[in-house]
Amino acid sequence: MKKTLLSGVKPTGRPHIGNYFGAMKQFVDLQNGGDYTCHLFIADYHALNLIQDKNELERLTLDLALDYLAIGLNPAKSVLFKQSDVSAHTELCWIFDTIVTMPYLMRAHAYKDAEAKNKEINVGTFNYPVLMAADILLYGTDVVPVGQDQKQHVEYARNIAEKFNNTFGETFKLPDALILEYVATVPGTDGRKMSKSYGNTIPLFATREEITRAVMSIVTDSSAGIPENVYAIHKLFRTETSLKKFYEENSGKYKKLKEALIDDIDAYVKPLMERRAELAKNENTVAEILKQGSIMANEIASKKLLEVKEKIGVI
Ligand code: ADP
Ligand code: TRP
Repeated sequence: MKKTLLSGVKPTGRPHIGNYFGAMKQFVDLQNGGDYTCHLFIADYHALNLIQDKNELERLTLDLALDYLAIGLNPAKSVLFKQSDVSAHTELCWIFDTIVTMPYLMRAHAYKDAEAKNKEINVGTFNYPVLMAADILLYGTDVVPVGQDQKQHVEYARNIAEKFNNTFGETFKLPDALILEYVATVPGTDGRKMSKSYGNTIPLFATREEITRAVMSIVTDSSAGIPENVYAIHKLFRTETSLKKFYEENSGKYKKLKEALIDDIDAYVKPLMERRAELAKNENTVAEILKQGSIMANEIASKKLLEVKEKIGVI
């Protein structure tokens, strides 16, 4: 029996190379490895905490679907769907809400960060880990490929599964995060974690001009011969053996090193850009892929939800 894999990304903006190497590339590699039954989805209900504009959410959702397909996710190999098309996610989220305590959710990093910034937090943001637990647990998931910043969320899903199993009897498998150490936290142009919220990203589907602008803005330490921040990003695109030699030979020549990085990113991204442009010509096909995926996802999720409803005593 194959193991089950599930992961998702929120449609909140253009994916960057941190998203790609930290998470999305794993989706494709693991799909193609053939060892897992794969479920990859668009977490549009999670995005609704941030994107509260009809046209924007529609556009970003379609964009992320195009991104998924362009990087190589294949509907013949993976179930590709949109979270909001499978209502079992939000229904199970409510059921979990009744066994999850507020102090437990208050320990979540994302909540604590928002609170530290004195942000007014909506209930959806507070409850984010519970919906994510429902996403994961409905599919009997064994592994969840994500970046390091999502590790705590997968632990929440594990704990919620355990609590449900203890309260109502064995129902959910306990999932594990799958995090590749090498790319667990891809650094941004300022050396901090690359993140949309820090404005330090290199977009994945970017023109040469955009790549150039982002790479030229990478902060370099003028005292060192080898610019750490440039090297940390460059090693995603080239083997370290060839890279080390090149950086040693060009020690201190920041402009030349950055130009080489621009060339390498551009060469890597170009075929993905071309595939994406081709797919974008036919948005109806993309919508159809998500529709077919949601039929398969609903089949799995509704079966699990039925089992849950029996266990809790509502049917
Ligand atoms: P962002 O922080 O830019 O808003 P998301 O929360 O949308 O990113 O993350 C989508 C996926 O990409 C998640 O699995 C997350 O762990 C991963 N990810 C995001 N940023 C990075 C990074 N800098 N390095 C590695 N993985 C990342
Ligand atoms: N929280 C994830 C992120 O910010 C997105 C997500 C939602 C997810 N549900 C999930 C990831 C379930 C893995 C599994 O990137």
